[in-house]
Amino acid sequence: MKVLVATTNPGKLREIERILSPLGYKVVKPPEKLEVKETGRTFLENAYLKAKAYHERFGLPTLADDSGLVVDSLGGYPGVFSSRFYSLEFGGKEELKGSADEANVRKLLRLLQCEEDRRAKFVAFVVLYLGEKGFFAEGECRGEIVESPRGSGGFGYDPVFRPEGYDRTMAELPPEEKDRISHRGRALRNLAGLLESCDL
Ligand code: IMP
Repeated sequence: MKVLVATTNPGKLREIERILSPLGYKVVKPPEKLEVKETGRTFLENAYLKAKAYHERFGLPTLADDSGLVVDSLGGYPGVFSSRFYSLEFGGKEELKGSADEANVRKLLRLLQCEEDRRAKFVAFVVLYLGEKGFFAEGECRGEIVESPRGSGGFGYDPVFRPEGYDRTMAELPPEEKDRISHRGRALRNLAGLLESCDL
């Protein structure tokens, strides 16, 4: 099946293609970026909003991923605000020096400076929108936030997230290992299983 991916985030695109291609999906990048307002209060709502907007514009079966980091001691923040955490009033705005990913990570480490409970999880919701019907699946990866960034793989919060059972951060793992344990890998494989059981 050919699926349009409703994102222009290079990190997400790379991973979605890497995970779905071996499962027999042809992943198509959007010809242009749409400004979709992520007004939902949950990952699922936002994934649905993105999938629907790209489907309406381009008319192909459309896959959207909404994902983020949920930190226990921050009451679930940054959550749905993960991509723009640095700019939120919550916890104090962080100056944008370098990339948004770097500013997000700086703010997270600042907020957790004296915090002993560093438990966190990555969460992903994926939606496949076909117009007349849609499917969704979820994936999680539990771990904790380390004291300083390590590694150059992945994107976003990967350099400060150490998955449970590992002594390396997500950014220090080879790509295939990240895909095996990541929230996104799990969500996409769950979705593929669901579609198979529906004969799609
Ligand atoms: P979205 O585009 O609104 O779904 O925002 C996702 C944001 O969550 C990204 O910009 C990252 O900050 C964070 N995020 C999601 N998945 C990952 C991941 O696999 N590694 C690191 N950060 C992630």
